[in-house]
Amino acid sequence: MNSFSFHNPTAILFGEGTLSKLGEQVGKFGKNVLLVYGGGSIKKSGLYDRVLEQLSSIGANVVELSGIEPNPRLTSVNKGIELCRNHQVDFILAVGGGSVIDASKAIAAGAKYDGDVWDFLDRKAAVQDALPIGTVLTLSATGSEMNGSSVITNWETNQKRGFGSPLVYPKFSILDPTLTYTVPRDQTVNGIVDIMSHVFEQYFSLTQDTPLQERLCESILQTMIENAEAVLENPENYAARANMMWCGTLALNGGLISVGMANDWASHGIEHEISAIYDIPHGAGLSIVFPSWMKYVYDARPDRFAQFAVRVWGIDPTGKSDEELALAGIEATRAFFTRIGAPATLSHYNIGRDQFDRMAEEAVRFGPIGSFKRLNKDDVKAIYELSL
Ligand code: NZQ
Ligand code: ZN
Repeated sequence: MNSFSFHNPTAILFGEGTLSKLGEQVGKFGKNVLLVYGGGSIKKSGLYDRVLEQLSSIGANVVELSGIEPNPRLTSVNKGIELCRNHQVDFILAVGGGSVIDASKAIAAGAKYDGDVWDFLDRKAAVQDALPIGTVLTLSATGSEMNGSSVITNWETNQKRGFGSPLVYPKFSILDPTLTYTVPRDQTVNGIVDIMSHVFEQYFSLTQDTPLQERLCESILQTMIENAEAVLENPENYAARANMMWCGTLALNGGLISVGMANDWASHGIEHEISAIYDIPHGAGLSIVFPSWMKYVYDARPDRFAQFAVRVWGIDPTGKSDEELALAGIEATRAFFTRIGAPATLSHYNIGRDQFDRMAEEAVRFGPIGSFKRLNKDDVKAIYELSL
């Protein structure tokens, strides 16, 4: 196990009814609030009215930024920064999924920066200061509610990039599983794949002697597998939604489950280049890419993939080599994604190989990616080929 430091400052208020604590939480940070939300799901579900009620109970002055897109865009972030400056905003409240939260983080950092907010995403500047943010999560997937990452798309240049900073961790996140009852089936499926993929990025590691971290990863994967079909069968199954929500938060909250381990994250980079051009949902892209990545890299450490097959998928190891087990585990992953209705190929979205060169080049723009197996441009292209 490698040496590590770990600090996560986000307060979590989990469970049905926790929205009633929103006013009290926001009140700790000021009165001028920027309320950020997406394309309208919160109005349809009635959550918008409940949030405004909480904010009015503390006499907050509310400015709104609505219409944050899935795969949030730089143009929306810039609108938010302008609102913060014009209205002396002292707190940002994100109500939505990962896209709304990520946009809010970029707004929070951009509002305190004199230059172009894209500098953070282009690795030209590091965040030095940020407005405080809080979240009301409506979709289990990204973990953005308890981490310091934000992913933004510059639609003019087709670049989707991320930045991370301890300064943009939410001060608090309200996690009420009932607020995810209205998430449509396809977005629920995308969330399941995203959560499991976050665990894969950490679990497939070359670091030795990390049995606790491995079991934490395996337990999240098993819990997701056990609950996925229940959530899809009955979207208002409280226990299943709650389990999925907590899995999603723990799967990517600053690396709690994989402290002391080298992480990979190549598949996320490879996926982001697809959604940067084709604007497909992140989870759907991961469902296509991740099993291809697994096939391409498993030989770097077949024993970890064999362990995955046996412990996560329950495959009987009797008489099987690590390689046979590894391949069976990868097949089980693909089969599970297909069973829950996630796409398996780029052709599902009519995506061909015409942009592969450009996508692969962008994926490695800062150098080779991944740590399980270092991948260069040709490797990334080969993984896109396996995903056709
Ligand atoms: O916009 P509205 O109308 O709210 O609808 C949204 C959106 O269309 C809808 N939705 C959300 N909650 C709902 C709901 N519909 C009905 N009822 C509800 N309760 O779902 C759609 C997708 O929302 P979005 O926020 O885009 O999904 P998700 O949470 O999967 O976020 C995806 C974004 O996060 C990035 C992805 O790349 C992508 O841009 N990621 C962020 C990460 C992070 N910050 O740590 C890590 C991830 O790996 C990921 O890259
Ligand atoms: Zn993800």
